[in-house]
Amino acid sequence: MVVVIDGPAGSGKSTIAKMLAERLSIKYLDSGAMYRALTWKAAKKGVDFHDDEGLCKLLSATCIRIENTKNGFETYVDDVNVTREIRLPFVTKNVHYVSNIEFVREKMVEHQRRFAEGENIIAEGRDMASVVFPDADKKIYLDADITVRGERRHSELGNLNGPSQLLTVVEDLKQRDHKDMTRGLAPLKQVDDAFYLDTTRLTIEEVVAILIEEIGQISK
Ligand code: DC
Repeated sequence: MVVVIDGPAGSGKSTIAKMLAERLSIKYLDSGAMYRALTWKAAKKGVDFHDDEGLCKLLSATCIRIENTKNGFETYVDDVNVTREIRLPFVTKNVHYVSNIEFVREKMVEHQRRFAEGENIIAEGRDMASVVFPDADKKIYLDADITVRGERRHSELGNLNGPSQLLTVVEDLKQRDHKDMTRGLAPLKQVDDAFYLDTTRLTIEEVVAILIEEIGQISK
């Protein structure tokens, strides 16, 4: 069984997908972590984010490993555990350069499909339904009002990066939405057969309950 969740940043994809994976005892794939991993390495190595060829060469020389462990979903770059560092602002700010390169996307998609092969899995990202798993058993699109998404992201960042301004977070989200939705390659979009859920006025538990019910329909 393959379940996919797409949606904009701050719509609750990661939190919800992780909880669903746990409740359903299935694997979890955070596809964004892979793009973040390459961005992290490029920043560490000082590769120019405008140098597509340099970024492709870097990817070919990099081992990105993703794993479901007892600590949750973990990401390694050449055996360094980067799970926390890939959430830092220098990665978030630059990841769009990396995720808009055709060769990079092709390699990441191959890796994501291999990871899911023969597994029961829930995968989240931007192009899970439209490109990576077009035959998924259940396609979900999560959305929420921009201000609520900003508030959620703001409280997450408070835990990780210290104080941040809500207004700045909302502005950053708007820019990321724009980049994700208008890019030439695999832009974020809702496919026709997706189950659309607006989480603006729902608690996490309510969202999980609705989706468990929806996923439960697969085998009926
Ligand atoms: O979900 P996230 O914020 O960790 O994603 C990081 C970036 O990677 C985001 O700007 C969009 C991009 N991304 C993508 O292009 N395709 C995916 N399947 C997942 C993420």
